[in-house]
Amino acid sequence: MKNKLEKLRDEFLEGLAEIKDLSALRELELKYISRKGKLSGLLSELKEISVDLRREAGEAANIVKREMTEKYNEVRAALEKKADGGVVDPTVPGEKFESGQLHPLTLVRRELEDFFATLGFTVLDGPELESEFYNFESLNVPPHHPARDMQDTFYVDIKNKQGEYDLTMRTQTSNTQVRAMQKYGAPLKAIMPGRVFRSEATDARHEHTFYQLEGVVIDKNINFGHMKNILEAVGKKLYGPDTQLRMRPKFYPFVEPGSNGEYTCFLCQGKGCRVCKQTGWLEIVGCGLIHPNVMRAGGIDPEVYSGFAFGFGLNRLVMLKYGIDDIRLFNGGDLRFLKQF
Ligand code: DAH
Repeated sequence: MKNKLEKLRDEFLEGLAEIKDLSALRELELKYISRKGKLSGLLSELKEISVDLRREAGEAANIVKREMTEKYNEVRAALEKKADGGVVDPTVPGEKFESGQLHPLTLVRRELEDFFATLGFTVLDGPELESEFYNFESLNVPPHHPARDMQDTFYVDIKNKQGEYDLTMRTQTSNTQVRAMQKYGAPLKAIMPGRVFRSEATDARHEHTFYQLEGVVIDKNINFGHMKNILEAVGKKLYGPDTQLRMRPKFYPFVEPGSNGEYTCFLCQGKGCRVCKQTGWLEIVGCGLIHPNVMRAGGIDPEVYSGFAFGFGLNRLVMLKYGIDDIRLFNGGDLRFLKQF
């Protein structure tokens, strides 16, 4: 036994003398002194030796083992020192440092959040998995109202706490309007950016998952002029100081009157081009004065307070700003696209 042990030790030490780097050392370690290495194999034979010889063999084993690990540790320490304290060769090309960057939707969202903050708006968050109440009913869209068809809704196959199926993936950030009213009451001045979902067949202009930025302002004596003023300021911020706003009537169940805000096309300055479909105007924002039913759902008395709400399609803003012609690029995860911003 003693011979076998010493032979193993000599073999190991010879091998160790040849070692030049840490990975070769690791291989040697695995072969000889790891738990499944040759030394363990030998030691497990100790059990089979008769009791009177075992003591002597055991002592020899301990000595050999100590010798091997000490030498191993020495070589290892020397190699490690060399690895990080070695000579620096300044001609070796550096490793390229890759930094990530923000998604274009995040860039524009943050720009708008900062801008609205300077106008005194709070930024609020709302749930993406939403009850029909907040996504529709509280916004003056009763069950079976045809306006629910305007937005192709994903209904979710999970029961709510009352055991009913009433959950949807929110189709609009407007879901956070009544939540905000209930939580903060009036006066209220907030924006609520976020992700929304629609059951759409996707193409260059349609996505099932996209982003909106909602806003609400509620106070005494708020009128259409206040809304126009804010939206005009946003337009100038986004597209430059000469940008004009025009408002055309449009039906949304949660506002009365409802309107579509359009900005002068920043590409052709209103002359008409491909981007604005020759109209000179870009449809950018849905808005209106908050319907009294919505105020009531939020626990605010519409006889005392009035307010306006608006909703921007964030993807559309980003597409216009950067000249992106396919909405599917946003969720596509293609780094060639994402690295351009
Ligand atoms: N939620 C609407 C949509 O998804 C956009 C919208 C229109 C929001 C009018 C509003 C509003 O707050 O007043 O198409």
